Amino acid sequence: MSFVNIKKQYLAMGMLVFVLLFLFNNKPAFQCQFSPEMSSYLPPIYGGLPPTYARLAQKADLTRLSQTLSLVKNFHWIVIEDSETKTKLVENLLKESSLKYTHLNVKTHKAKHSHGASGVEQRNAALEWLRGYLETAEDKKGVVYFMDDDNTYSLKVFEEMRKINKVGVWPVGIVGGMRVEMPLVTNGKVTGFNAVWKPFRPFPIDMAGFAINATLFLDHPDAKFSRKVQSGFQESEILKYFTTKEEMEPLADNCTKVYVWHTRTQKPSILNVKKLKHTPVPDDHIEV
Ligand SMILES: *[C@@H]1O[C@H](CO)[C@@H](O)[C@H](O)[C@H]1NC(C)=O
Ligand SMILES: *[C@@H]1O[C@H](CO)[C@@H](O)[C@H](O)[C@H]1NC(C)=O
Repeated sequence: MSFVNIKKQYLAMGMLVFVLLFLFNNKPAFQCQFSPEMSSYLPPIYGGLPPTYARLAQKADLTRLSQTLSLVKNFHWIVIEDSETKTKLVENLLKESSLKYTHLNVKTHKAKHSHGASGVEQRNAALEWLRGYLETAEDKKGVVYFMDDDNTYSLKVFEEMRKINKVGVWPVGIVGGMRVEMPLVTNGKVTGFNAVWKPFRPFPIDMAGFAINATLFLDHPDAKFSRKVQSGFQESEILKYFTTKEEMEPLADNCTKVYVWHTRTQKPSILNVKKLKHTPVPDDHIEV
């Protein structure tokens, strides 16, 4: 091949690339013709829901969580405070975040015969809000995920849950006295659960280990959490409305990967100022 021929070929290729680039750059209408499913449609994730309550590490925990969530596409954060009124601390934190959020509050009324189940009233109020929202929403698709403000979430867990058809499950690290609590999967089906804490529960899994198709909450208007069940049974209580063990969809590579950890923030100990020899400068005006 002569030098001249090669140059011509390059020139032709270059022109072809140029023409193709020109065509694609100038035809946004062409891209819009794809149906949402075919292009980059992502069902929204409605996450949060469990209560956040006032405590010293609250702002630290919520800051860490909100910054993780700001990396999740099409995420709607539902924050529900266990208090009589919405607090300035949470309100400001939400306003300063770049997240799409809904801020609610419900105070827990300690019932005489309650089983110490936390977050029941709050989660149910959040589910009521969600139903009202979805009824009028154009896009009724989505995923509901019950979160804790001090858990650790990999971005991968959110990618996984968007694949859900009805109810998806995956392992949770460092929970229930185990390194990892997880559904057992055989031939792509959930056949059991590897759990040691109350293994007799209908679904011995943690709240962080599953998510539910949001549309299903409209199909099951009665689905809610209950104060009447003993501790550790809230997961089973809500899941019973939507799925059976056999129907669960094992995600995270057939439940072989850990993408969420049930980490706990240690309760901080603050010294009693009155007992100190050197009284520090007052710091009440600073939000921590
Ligand atoms: C949820 O269910 C609805 C209705 O069956 C379906 O259209 C949707 O694709 C499902 N998945 C998600 C993530 O919304
Ligand atoms: C899960 O297991 C099933 C059955 O063995 C297999 O067909 C499927 O590809 C696996 N899924 C993943 C994501 O590894």
